Amino acid sequence: MARDIQQVGVVGLGTMGAGIVEVFARSGLSVVAVEKDDEAVARGRGHLEGSTGRAVARGKITEADQQQLLDRVHFGTDVGALAEVDLVVEAVPEHLDLKRAIFGELDKVCKPETILASNTSSLSITEIAVATGRPGKVVGMHFFNPAPVMKLVEVIRSVVTEQDVVDDVEALVQKLGKVDVTVGDRAGFIANALLFGYLNHAVSLYESNYASREDIDAAMKLGCGLPMGPLALLDLIGLDTAYEILDTMYAQSRDRLHAPRPVFKQMITAGLLGRKSGKGFYTYD
Ligand code: CAA
Repeated sequence: MARDIQQVGVVGLGTMGAGIVEVFARSGLSVVAVEKDDEAVARGRGHLEGSTGRAVARGKITEADQQQLLDRVHFGTDVGALAEVDLVVEAVPEHLDLKRAIFGELDKVCKPETILASNTSSLSITEIAVATGRPGKVVGMHFFNPAPVMKLVEVIRSVVTEQDVVDDVEALVQKLGKVDVTVGDRAGFIANALLFGYLNHAVSLYESNYASREDIDAAMKLGCGLPMGPLALLDLIGLDTAYEILDTMYAQSRDRLHAPRPVFKQMITAGLLGRKSGKGFYTYD
């Protein structure tokens, strides 16, 4: 029988981490949410308050529901607060050294049976796992943006992940009202391995002035029935995150399809990161 996971932790409260906190808290779980400093904690808290506030404004939840949800989340900067949780999801930026350092720290503070999960989009779960003394309890738990809306969670098992751990995480995903797919440890897993070649190709059309951004997006949205066009989707994902994912996949596959188009670096250098910085391929209020 799957273990009953009641208390969870989330490390990193950017777009994905804050969204994952919301998913857990909406399902009635108690969440310890950790960031590196007070400013980052305030941003994460603001994200959660804003998102649940919009749900109140749309009549999806009441103000009392929102308050109960917020009360279930305990914010802070101390990783030590994760000592008693059953599972931690790490959602910090896509840098292997940073993730390995955090997993090393989590391994020291969390009880031995705690499952340590990474929300990485493309980095190796195996390389993260071996930074701990419990590689069998390390797994990938990959949510999609926006986490409160997208139904899928990819569960990534390394060659040493214990089957019980995979079973427990799959059961948790279902408890969250989401759908799990299980996949081995290969850059991009399933969805990003298929999606990012397409997104990179769209950027190449844009870069060569082959068509306007609006027409590229309209073609895929209206011609192919996708919820949004590729350039609008890149703005949602964040150009820095998309670049890291492509770069990791390219390093592993050496497939030119995944070689990040030059305009990514130029836009990132200019601070055009997409929605999170107010400007990417499009401008946001
Ligand atoms: N946080 C929380 N809820 C959100 C949200 C957000 N950021 N954005 C939208 N929503 C909610 C809205 O509140 C609304 O909820 P209700 O139906 O309960 O009222 C619902 O989503 C629909 O929103 P809208 O009506 O405002 O807009 P929409 O119908 O155009 O949908 C969208 C917006 C869900 C983003 C949709 O355009 C979509 O599905 N886009 C594709 C997203 C996608 O492909 N994501 C995967 C990216 S790849 C990835 O994430 C992997 C990775 O590793 C980078």
